[in-house]
Amino acid sequence: THQAEMVIVANRLPFDLEQQPDGTTRARQAPGGLVTALAPILSRRQGAWIGWPGTPDVDLDPTENDGISLFPVRLSQAEVDDYYEGFSNDTLWPLYHDAVNPSTFDRSWWESYQAVNQRFAERAAEVAAPGATVWVHDYQLQLVPQMLRRLRSDVRIGFFLHIPFPPVELFMRLPWRQQIITGLLGADLIGFHLPGGARNFVRLAKSLVGVSTTGTTTMQFDGRTIRAGAFPISIDSAGQASLAATPEVHETARQLRKDLGNPAKIILGIDRLDYTKGIDVRLQAFEELLLAGDPSVQDAVMIQVATPSRERIGSYIRMREDIERRVGAINGNHGRIGRPAVHYLHQSLPREELAAFYVAADVMTVTPLRDGMNLVAKEYVACRVDGGGVLLLSEFTGAARELRTALLVNPYDTDGVKEGLRTSLTMPTVDARRRMRAMRRQVLTHDVDRWAAAFLSELEGTRDVLAEAA
Ligand code: G6P
Repeated sequence: THQAEMVIVANRLPFDLEQQPDGTTRARQAPGGLVTALAPILSRRQGAWIGWPGTPDVDLDPTENDGISLFPVRLSQAEVDDYYEGFSNDTLWPLYHDAVNPSTFDRSWWESYQAVNQRFAERAAEVAAPGATVWVHDYQLQLVPQMLRRLRSDVRIGFFLHIPFPPVELFMRLPWRQQIITGLLGADLIGFHLPGGARNFVRLAKSLVGVSTTGTTTMQFDGRTIRAGAFPISIDSAGQASLAATPEVHETARQLRKDLGNPAKIILGIDRLDYTKGIDVRLQAFEELLLAGDPSVQDAVMIQVATPSRERIGSYIRMREDIERRVGAINGNHGRIGRPAVHYLHQSLPREELAAFYVAADVMTVTPLRDGMNLVAKEYVACRVDGGGVLLLSEFTGAARELRTALLVNPYDTDGVKEGLRTSLTMPTVDARRRMRAMRRQVLTHDVDRWAAAFLSELEGTRDVLAEAA
């Protein structure tokens, strides 16, 4: 088989591959932050990507797209139910996001999680060249590092978690806590967005598996050295900025404002439709401001783009119903004919159109209850080539650690979010521009290439240390 020097292993391929009736396949960019972050890097490096094409029960041959070799992993419908929707997204996802929703702990889901992780590990073992670097991604594949190491002791293994790593007390609820920690310890380097995540991991590795440590982030286990560290992810900042600067995007943004009836202020939210994103929080705050008559619907409109996500899981179905009921209620109470207060799109939009939304938005609301990083916040900042716009940002996002001059709010504090929204709408331009300037400096100097380079050079450093010791 193909022998790649650099292998990405992630639950999803960067593209959803759809089999057409005529037997050919069509590719669409897959949802979520992981792909947004990694697609630009991989199309520049000649790598291989192992992942699921996004549909159950399809057998696809390896293929190439934008210079990336794609190796599709087949998941049966039962595995989509148990490994993906079950264990990954109804056990780990809520638990790792501060248990904002209750997790289901189901033993048959765990069986499926192990079996699918083994399949990904085997595929990686086939594809990787001798001594290759294999970079495993996210919570769906936490057992792959150890499984791969058993098959291929010659490869260098990195793991990066794209979602928060939870506090020790929450992680301890997991019936399979020891196996997950051991699975991750198969890597040479384990990356998190924040130093706190790395610290939590090391504490758990000590208490559950008995690793010994030197310093705060270097562990010894199984005769190997393993490091944990913080690598805050980012976006293709320059690419996003130049997209936002095109005449087409400007024209779309101008047209959007016109279509909305030239409101004084446009408030924007763009999220996957997920209960961690705090979409309800900002709708509540906006509605309370409208009730108080300040701003009025004449002054401000809200656009909420909610990208369809994980639509078969109960908590997502309920969340969608809740959001749609709220939007309906707000428009019923405050809208006029031709002038709804909230424009709600349950759609996945092309990036050119999203860029136009960012350019048009006077206030960008990012209010998750918990978010590993949140790349939407960074995209907004990168798109504001005009230096305008206000970012209202939850303090419980990774992005809040870097975008210090955003207007930070506690999403659990409805009055605080309401005040934050009011402040955003009335902020003097000089103040807004000063804040935006500082955020732009941050985002433009810390892009996704820098993130990947930091992770990969640390991973190679780990390897050198090992080689010297041997
Ligand atoms: C987050 C996760 C990704 C995931 C994405 C979309 O960004 O960190 O691993 O791919 O959400 O979710 P989905 O379940 O559709 O892949």
